[in-house]
Amino acid sequence: MPGLRAEVASLFAEWLGLDVERYTSLTTVEDDTSFVSKDGGLMSLLLVHGHRRVVGAAELAHLTGQLVTLWGSTLSGHYHTLDICFHSDPAATDREIDWMLAPSVQTAARQGLDLGAIFAERRRHLPRYAATETVYLALWTAPTGLPRTVRRQERRARRQRLRDRHRPGGFTRDNQNTEAVNRDLIDTHRSCVATVLADMTAFGFDLELLPVERACRELRGRIDPDWTPDDWQPLLPGGFPRACEHPDGTYDPSTCWLPALGSQLIPRDLRIVDYRTVQIGDRLYQPLYVDLPQLTEVQRFERLFERVRGERLPWRLLIRLTGGAEAWLLAKRSISSLLYFAGHQNKLINQSVGAMRKFLNGGGLGVRAQMALTSWVDTTQPAGRGRTHAEALRARTAQLASYLQAWGACTVREYGGHPVKAWASTVPGLSTLHIGTRYVAPLAEVLVTLPLFRAASPWRRGALLYRTRDGKLYPYQPGSSEQGTWNELYFARPGSGKSATMNANNLGLVLSSGFRRLPFIRIIDIGPSSEGLIDLLREGLPPDRRHEAQFHALVNDAGWAVNPLDTPLGWRRPLPQERAFLVSFLSVLATKPGDREPAEGIADLIGLVLDLAYAHFADDQSPKRYVPDQDAGVDRALVRHAVALDAEPTWWEVVDALFAAGDPEAAVRAQRCAVPVLSDLVAVAQQPQVRDLYGGAMRLVGTAESPIQLFNRIVSAATREFPLLAHPTRFDLGNARVAALDVAALCGDMTPVGQRQTAVAYLLARHILGRDLFLDDHLARAAPPRYRAYHARRFEEHLAYPKKFSVDEKHRCGPIAAIEAQLVRDQREGRKNNVQVALASQILTDFSAEMIELASSVYIMEYGNDDTAEDVREKFSLPASAIELLRVYGNGPTPAGAPFLCAMKTKRGLVCQLLYLTNGPIEMWALSTTAEDRVIRRRLYQRFGAPAALRALARRYPSGSAKADLERRLEHSAHPALDRDQVLDAIVGELAGAIAAAETAEAGPLPDAEEGE
Ligand SMILES: Nc1ncnc2c1ncn2[C@@H]1O[C@H](COP(=O)(O)OP(=O)(O)OP(=O)(O)O)[C@@H](O)[C@H]1O
Ligand SMILES: [Mg+2]
Repeated sequence: MPGLRAEVASLFAEWLGLDVERYTSLTTVEDDTSFVSKDGGLMSLLLVHGHRRVVGAAELAHLTGQLVTLWGSTLSGHYHTLDICFHSDPAATDREIDWMLAPSVQTAARQGLDLGAIFAERRRHLPRYAATETVYLALWTAPTGLPRTVRRQERRARRQRLRDRHRPGGFTRDNQNTEAVNRDLIDTHRSCVATVLADMTAFGFDLELLPVERACRELRGRIDPDWTPDDWQPLLPGGFPRACEHPDGTYDPSTCWLPALGSQLIPRDLRIVDYRTVQIGDRLYQPLYVDLPQLTEVQRFERLFERVRGERLPWRLLIRLTGGAEAWLLAKRSISSLLYFAGHQNKLINQSVGAMRKFLNGGGLGVRAQMALTSWVDTTQPAGRGRTHAEALRARTAQLASYLQAWGACTVREYGGHPVKAWASTVPGLSTLHIGTRYVAPLAEVLVTLPLFRAASPWRRGALLYRTRDGKLYPYQPGSSEQGTWNELYFARPGSGKSATMNANNLGLVLSSGFRRLPFIRIIDIGPSSEGLIDLLREGLPPDRRHEAQFHALVNDAGWAVNPLDTPLGWRRPLPQERAFLVSFLSVLATKPGDREPAEGIADLIGLVLDLAYAHFADDQSPKRYVPDQDAGVDRALVRHAVALDAEPTWWEVVDALFAAGDPEAAVRAQRCAVPVLSDLVAVAQQPQVRDLYGGAMRLVGTAESPIQLFNRIVSAATREFPLLAHPTRFDLGNARVAALDVAALCGDMTPVGQRQTAVAYLLARHILGRDLFLDDHLARAAPPRYRAYHARRFEEHLAYPKKFSVDEKHRCGPIAAIEAQLVRDQREGRKNNVQVALASQILTDFSAEMIELASSVYIMEYGNDDTAEDVREKFSLPASAIELLRVYGNGPTPAGAPFLCAMKTKRGLVCQLLYLTNGPIEMWALSTTAEDRVIRRRLYQRFGAPAALRALARRYPSGSAKADLERRLEHSAHPALDRDQVLDAIVGELAGAIAAAETAEAGPLPDAEEGE
């Protein structure tokens, strides 16, 4: 009896039009990517991520031209229908952010990094500027394209197959019909999908053919997200159907078969609320359709999108394209001529029908199009503003309709009577039914109105979430396998966000998926731009691992001594690349200020002197003698390990002995005394081998000096000018993994002499930061025998993790060849050693053709003026439309984020987009490079730790800076004697008070930065 009741209820539901099966055209699947529809046709669902490059007017014309050819031929054979669906749901943005960030959150947890506040803030802050959006392309192949006789034959054969097959008892419309497919269509469908996928990819689109399980999950997620967990799986052929028993013990034989797709995709019942509203799950929908298309002018989809986005409406739009425009128009001839007498609008229609006919007769490609759309409200969420859900929905629908009408004067209507049908017309790939009025239009014009040209990121997830100007999330993962090399260039004028973006990218690298430890990141900085990043990491690490992130401001005195002539442990002479570095380094010292290179022959002389120096101080010539008290640490280690030494041991013997005693740290310290120092080179340069070649009567062009005299002079000058270069090394980075050196104290000004000094500082910093990183397997094997295993182990440990060199403020070095050569060498060898190089400069000429050639990502933050923009375009080979976007929107950072033009070489081709880095107040405070803000941040970190300090700063100054408040206080102060320090003290005092108060009381919710771009 219950069985009968269920059957009757189901019949009623069907009769009332509430039966989900009735609106699902799909019955089963044919292969991994194709569904079968009830009429024997096929459907494949593609996800269109968008286009990889900026699509300006010129690109649009080119792309529509290409698509007209491709889609024109797809639609011409009466087989295929294309549904293009745009779905945007601002309320689901935080969930998408969670999904995109999930791998980074896991990485941070594995690394023991506490960045919870940053992740939580991104989830809270970004949805103000971005919303989830998805574009689907459903490609249907219907039997209507087959000749009638073939269709008849196939129907007969299918019936026969069904008869032959032993069917279970419950084979009804509640089950999947695995015999439904029309076999004559399978090849046609597959080849059409493959062609569309391949050709559109070749045109620069980023699209993905969805496997059937994933397509089912996408569809169900669009229909009833709350009932669609991420791991939901449909029951499809190949899966395991289950027989089920009703609670009363009866057994339903129909469930032995695979349940029909309708009930799987629409898990909860449909309920018609009124003649225009339908409830599905927890959502109320009021669908609309377009009755008359854009009559006045054809506008891009983005124009409509911009308007709707402002209101943060959830909406979905489905446009169906079918072929056969000519035949259809022919059939409509009589109707349209009747219309001609019936009013102004009809005349317009008639005229456009006439124009369309002319267009088609002239060889133009036309298409039949239908358009339906819907907004919705979620009944589980408050409707807001004292309205009921129905009223809120009404308001949304009216808004959507008005935007559509403003979009080229479309005429929009509600589909009275049967909202379910109208709703089904907006779900991609669900139904062959579509309630939209058919109209005929030139395919090229329709293409312009489609949401195909949205910005697409090759990354689906990433530690960095950029966004486009119009609010599409743009994940990016630095150092990922999407790119073959990872060299970055940043170019813009001061204060435009270069360092901030570089910091964000470095943080992104730290959070790459799969890391267990921090990668090796080395930053050369003038000023403390990277201090925020280092502090953030250090504060996020457990106390016993804080040494892994270090920031140092180098000081030019013996206490910070760094001997550039150091070699890796055990090596009596430098590795080839270290020797090359030393030649570069000494060449820079020997370069006349203002010149790019030293005088001819100097580099050779330097090479020769270096070789002789290392040979001279090696074990078999005149090694340096060990003297106690030179390094207390070494002396203690010798006693601790009870090392027995000769009567007059050399430092090299001490090195070997300590290493043999199992104390490589002490051995490293001892080795610092064994290697030559800079001043030793002067003596070596007097050796006859050198004098014979470069001394005597030889004179450099334009001076009275011999090369040796010049060499001696520069080395003496260097030891005088740079006390930190003149002594055995004292400063090292220990086990730091992320380290930044601020070399401001060593740098000169922007005069040629100053630039040369800066270049020396940069090369020195490069040496300090990089000497551990450029070991390779071959060199580990070439180490002195007893040290081989030690170096091989270190190499293994380093190899698994990427190493990144960031050089900020590169313009300060001026155009010095040695720096360029060093950076290009690092860029070039980077891929093999897993090293990435990032360079930031305010000067365009700083980037040589070779650097640009080797760069995989270029960031340009600002337009500057017309002349520089043209130079930039040419230099980085950027499209004109991208530069145009930069001109309009590249106006520097605002609370809504810092805009930049980004061009990246990826394995899928060149990517070029205008993007924004939008940080919330916590992240902005954490990474701020503004001097006053750093002072406040540092003082609060010291007293309260990073999380509490950042929370308080973000709450008090949601714009990410206290500078404006500081200036205001100074300006409006009643005390003329008040100075900056006092105001800073006052601000810090107030914030400290707020933190102390918050620690006692429960903290309220965080405000976010002001909106606006
Ligand atoms: N994504 C962002 N969102 C909001 N503000 C930003 C952003 N990026 C940068 N800023 C603001 O701009 C200031 C300057 O940024 P940044 O130091 O990165 O510029 P820069 O290009 O490196 O300048 P310089 O060439 O002088 O080093 C920051 O202190 C911050 O206040
Ligand atoms: Mg900077």
